[in-house]
Amino acid sequence: MNLIKFIESHHAEYLEELREFLRIRSVSTRSEHKVDVERAAGWVAERLCSAGMEKVEIILTQLHPLVYAESAQIPGRTTILIYGHYDVQPPEPLELWTSPPFEPVVRDGNLYARGSADDKGQMHIHLKALEALHTVDGKLPINVKVIIEGEEEIGGRSLWEFVAANRHRLKADALVLSDTSMLARGVPSITYGLRGLNYYQVEVTGPRQDLHSGVFGGAVANPITILAETIAKLHDQNLRVSVPGFYDDVEKISPSERKAMRALPWKEKQFRKTVGAPDLCGEKGFSALERMWCRPTLELNGIWGGYIEDGAKTVIPSKAYAKVSTRLVAHQDPAKIARLVEGHVRRLLPKSVTCEFKVLSMGPPWLADYRHAIFQKALRALEKGFGKKAVFIREGGSIPFVAQMDEMFKIPCVLLGFGLPDENAHAPDEHISLDNYFGGIRSTALFYQSLAGNGSSA
Ligand code: BES
Ligand code: MN
Ligand code: MN
Repeated sequence: MNLIKFIESHHAEYLEELREFLRIRSVSTRSEHKVDVERAAGWVAERLCSAGMEKVEIILTQLHPLVYAESAQIPGRTTILIYGHYDVQPPEPLELWTSPPFEPVVRDGNLYARGSADDKGQMHIHLKALEALHTVDGKLPINVKVIIEGEEEIGGRSLWEFVAANRHRLKADALVLSDTSMLARGVPSITYGLRGLNYYQVEVTGPRQDLHSGVFGGAVANPITILAETIAKLHDQNLRVSVPGFYDDVEKISPSERKAMRALPWKEKQFRKTVGAPDLCGEKGFSALERMWCRPTLELNGIWGGYIEDGAKTVIPSKAYAKVSTRLVAHQDPAKIARLVEGHVRRLLPKSVTCEFKVLSMGPPWLADYRHAIFQKALRALEKGFGKKAVFIREGGSIPFVAQMDEMFKIPCVLLGFGLPDENAHAPDEHISLDNYFGGIRSTALFYQSLAGNGSSA
C-alpha cells in the first residue's frame, strides 16, 4: 500500500491513540504526578515497540525516566536521532480551560488538551510516521535512534547526563525534532535558530524581620520599593537592556537575512490579534520578528513580597523577590551574561538592602546553517506533505538540548514545527490543529523516506 494512503486511512486510530497519551497527567514539576510521569514514559516505550524499534529502554534517572530506542542499525545507512519530551507544563489556572486539560476533545478541527502541541502531540507525529513506514515496507528506510525525556519543562539535567555518558551510542548524522511552531497556518516551517535562556531569582532583604509600617516607616528602606526601582532601571527609554556589555557579542542582522525575514508571509495584524495586548512594544530600531528571533531580551517573570491577602496590613516587609530571565542569541555566552546581569543588579542596589542573586538555569542559543542538503530534503517533504510552500524561520523560544547536541556532535538539527503560535502552549486551552498534526505525520514520513541511501547523503 502507498505510504500516504496508509496514513490517511488511519487518522481515526492515530487520534484515539493521541487522546489516550494526553490523558496521562505527566506534569514534571509536580511530585504528586510522579506516577503519571512514569506511566507516560511506559506509554512512549510501548509505542516505540509498535513503531518498529528493535531495542527500547526506559532509563531511570535522578528524577524522571528517559525513553531510549534504536531500530536495527544497518551499517552505511543514514542514521537520525529523534528527540521529544513527554512531560508537560502544569495546567493551572484550571478555571480558564473550556474543557478539562486532561480530557482531550476535538472542537473546530483542533484537539484541546495540555501537551497537545507542546510536546506530546508533536512527538506522537514521529511515532506514527515511523510506524507507518515500518508497516508499509516491513522495515524502516533509515537507521533510527530515539530519545524522549521527561524533564524538558523544568530544565532538568538527566537527559544531558545520559548523553554525556553515552556519546557513542547516540552518534547520528542528524538530530530531528518537532517542538516548535509554524510561522502561521498554512505555512509549514523549519526553524534554524532558537534563543538561549538564563533564569534568575533575586531576593532583596531590608530589615531582619517585617516591621510595623507606622512605627518604622520613614526610617528604613522598603525592599519592595527598592526591587521595583531596580527592575525599572534594567531597560532604557528605547527598551534596550541597560546591563553594560549585554549586547557586546550580539551579531548584526545581515542584510540578506533581514530581506528574507521581510519576505516571509507574516502579518503583523494577525500577530497583534494573537497577542491580545493594546499595542506591541520592544527595542527601538527592530521589527517585531527581529526582536523576537534575533535580539536578546530581559524579562520579568514574577515579582512578589509583602502583604497580598484580603484587606489591609500595614507592614514594611523584610523581603521582596523577583524571577527574571534573559533570552540570548547567537554568540552570547550564558555564563558571561549571568555575571553581567548579577553585577549590574548589585551595583544598582543601595546599601540599605542586601541581595541574594541565584542563577536557576542557563542555556545557550542555537543558530544553524540551513544550506546543508538535509534541510532541503526536509523543505521538500513539508511541501509535499502539506501541499504548501514551506519556509525557514527563527524562533524566540528555547530548547537547550538542540544547542547542546549541535555543540557536542556538530550535526545538523532539523526542527520541523507543527504547532501554531496561537495554540496556547503553557497556557489554558492548549490545542493542536488536526490538519497540522496529520500533515505533520505525512511530511515526517516522507522526510524519513527521502533520507534512504547512504550516511553521507544526509
Ligand atoms: N517547545 C518549547 C520551546 C519552543 C516553543 C521553542 C515554541 C520554539 C517555539 C519548550 O517546551 C519550552 O517551553 N522551552 C522553555 C525553556 C525550557 C528550558 C523550560 C522556554 O522556551 O521557555
Ligand atoms: Mn516543548
Ligand atoms: Mn514547553
